[in-house]
Amino acid sequence: MLRFLTAGESHGKGLLVILEGIPADLPLAEEELNLDLARRQRGYGRGGRMKIESDRAEIFSGVRRGKTLGSPVGILIRNRDWENWKELMKVENNISALPAAQALKVPRPGHADLAGGIKFGHRDLRNVLERASARETAARTAAGAVCRRLLAEFGTVIRSQVIEIGGVKVKGEGSKVKENDYWEKVEKSELRCGDLGAEKRMKKLIDQARSKGDTVGGVFEVRAFGLPPGLGSYCQWDLRLDGRLAGAMMSIPAIKGVEIGMGFLAGRKPGSQVHDEIFYKSAVGGQRSAVNFYRKTNRAGGLEGGVTNGEELVIRAAMKPISTLLKPKNSVQIDTKEAVPATVERSDVCAVPAAAVVGEGMTALELARAFLEKFGGDSIREVRRNFLSYLREVEAY
Ligand SMILES: Cc1cc2nc3c(=O)[nH]c(=O)nc-3n(C[C@H](O)[C@H](O)[C@H](O)COP(=O)(O)O)c2cc1C
Repeated sequence: MLRFLTAGESHGKGLLVILEGIPADLPLAEEELNLDLARRQRGYGRGGRMKIESDRAEIFSGVRRGKTLGSPVGILIRNRDWENWKELMKVENNISALPAAQALKVPRPGHADLAGGIKFGHRDLRNVLERASARETAARTAAGAVCRRLLAEFGTVIRSQVIEIGGVKVKGEGSKVKENDYWEKVEKSELRCGDLGAEKRMKKLIDQARSKGDTVGGVFEVRAFGLPPGLGSYCQWDLRLDGRLAGAMMSIPAIKGVEIGMGFLAGRKPGSQVHDEIFYKSAVGGQRSAVNFYRKTNRAGGLEGGVTNGEELVIRAAMKPISTLLKPKNSVQIDTKEAVPATVERSDVCAVPAAAVVGEGMTALELARAFLEKFGGDSIREVRRNFLSYLREVEAY
């Protein structure tokens, strides 16, 4: 089974990933991982850390001479900021050397600080925030880049765009998604937004929030093109791909809502305006494509019954505004129980574009997992054989 684990603290030595289940002989270069790490670091509204950290992934194991070995892929991302945190975050046991004033005693609303402190009994809340921090999403992005590489081998491409920030929405987000030019525009945009007019208004909103010591959230969309029908299953609740994708997306810090296809809007419309009609393309000049059934609309977002149906996957996620406010909210000192303003750590004003890249990675992981469940093999050659033989059956269906 394809799975990964991450380890590492936000201001520790770095982040580690172990990704297990990638078949042998997948071409893989560190640069592909670094490309996605750089994409995660961009974005209008990011905080000071993004300037310090230029993430680089080191492939530690599982790859030899540019190809995976079938053994676990180990990835290391060093924290460039470690030098400044060595004393506070050191591994050696001399706790007495840490001045009490340096312990973090005031939990920040909207963070794991208090719930995590109570859970583990930590009296220095840094022990919570170091791991709960979204810094960990760099590790997921690297793992996601490997999964994305695997899917690309079989014709699936994953994209993301920001469609809303602080209530400012793009116009007609679905209308140009088939055009490569559109996605180039998205990649060039500081907000991953293909509507330049909306982008301008979003930037203004971010500037206003920053000047007020406030933050903003938004909505991003991930699309997967070229997926075969038949990934996931309706046969068991935990095999449904819609549920799995939603879970993967909700696991990203600050994501508070997920929808697939028409999503929440489907609950407000009659069935006649929701379900996608099915059509069949007859052979054109003797040519048949692998999937001959199609829909003129894709309100289902590429999934029916928790199974991919051959249309493109459309999944959206809502990100809450960043929790750390420069003008902090009220909190309580955990030792004295005094009412005080929350701790302020260096922070982003808006991180929706970054979250979108993390969303691509989590989508890639879940899709690659479902892909290997269906076509799994120990080598890319074996997976390809299974995949192609299935496509022949689909063509004849
Ligand atoms: C890419 C990314 C960057 C983030 N950057 C920050 C940040 O700079 N400051 C902050 O307070 N929260 C940031 N967050 C959100 C927090 O990590 C998150 O709200 C917190 O861990 C609590 O988790 P929850 O919101 O899911 O309950 C970021 C989230 C993501 C996905």
